[in-house]
Amino acid sequence: MFSKLREDILVVFERDPAARSKWEILTTYPGIHAILAHRLAARLWRANFKWLARFIAYLARSVTGIEIHPGAIIGRRVFIDHGMGVVIGETAEIGDDCTLYHGVTLGGTSWNKGKRHPTLEKGVVVGAGAKILGPLTIGEGAKIGSNAVVVKDVPVGATAVGIPARILDENQAKPDELIARKLGFSAYAISADMNDPMVKAVHGLINHSTVTDERIAWILQQLEKMGAEPPATCKTDAQFDAAYLNKIVD
Ligand SMILES: CC(C)(COP(=O)(O)OP(=O)(O)OC[C@H]1O[C@@H](n2cnc3c(N)ncnc32)[C@H](O)[C@@H]1OP(=O)(O)O)[C@@H](O)C(=O)NCCC(=O)NCCS
Repeated sequence: MFSKLREDILVVFERDPAARSKWEILTTYPGIHAILAHRLAARLWRANFKWLARFIAYLARSVTGIEIHPGAIIGRRVFIDHGMGVVIGETAEIGDDCTLYHGVTLGGTSWNKGKRHPTLEKGVVVGAGAKILGPLTIGEGAKIGSNAVVVKDVPVGATAVGIPARILDENQAKPDELIARKLGFSAYAISADMNDPMVKAVHGLINHSTVTDERIAWILQQLEKMGAEPPATCKTDAQFDAAYLNKIVD
């Protein structure tokens, strides 16, 4: 028990530059208090003292602002920084060395019993205010941006941001993005896993317009070569700045 507590205190030194002494950590860090209370509550839960386990979790929540269901499985060296507003559901699993900031929810999306909360593999960092909803798996070492709403699995080592969360990954460009880059606008900072339908639709339309412009310009050129005089409206100088439009949509 004391070796776990020592580990808990040491990780605070590693992950919070504001920490100054062991005594300060032990007495003023609600994340530490919540984890200690959870260890007791989880033990009682497993021993079938369900009400007592819930009551301890409730008392801990009242003091720390961190609500951890006694059924949740929490690994070693897990650090909940600041803590207020954290909710961890009954079937959530948090691997070793994870870090959660205030306002994080590991929540469910269904009222069915059974596994309905997320699993965080080792070393995941969840930013302040992020919500991870459903029985998802957040891969080892992944980072969840503050205020993200995650509704799909996040691969090992990936970073997910936004609502709904998308994976930041410059290396996995989609064919559409490659076409766009070829055409001279490389501002598709969106990832292959981009899943905001509105952003997707707008990028698709910009991409399509650019390709259509290219085609029309080519047709006009051919017509001019054949001696046809295109109407004045076709000779507009209006610039369609796809790179700029893509950038402001992101
Ligand atoms: C998500 C996070 C881990 C990314 O960090 P990183 O890997 O260093 O990434 P960067 O800062 O280079 O940002 C990469 C891109 O994601 C965007 N981004 C970063 N965090 C974001 C967030 N929370 N929501 C939306 N977009 C975000 C950046 O604007 C940038 O976009 P761009 O490429 O279009 O410019 C980090 O920004 C974060 O949110 N950490 C949580 C910190 C926290 O909660 N602290 C609380 C302390 S009390």
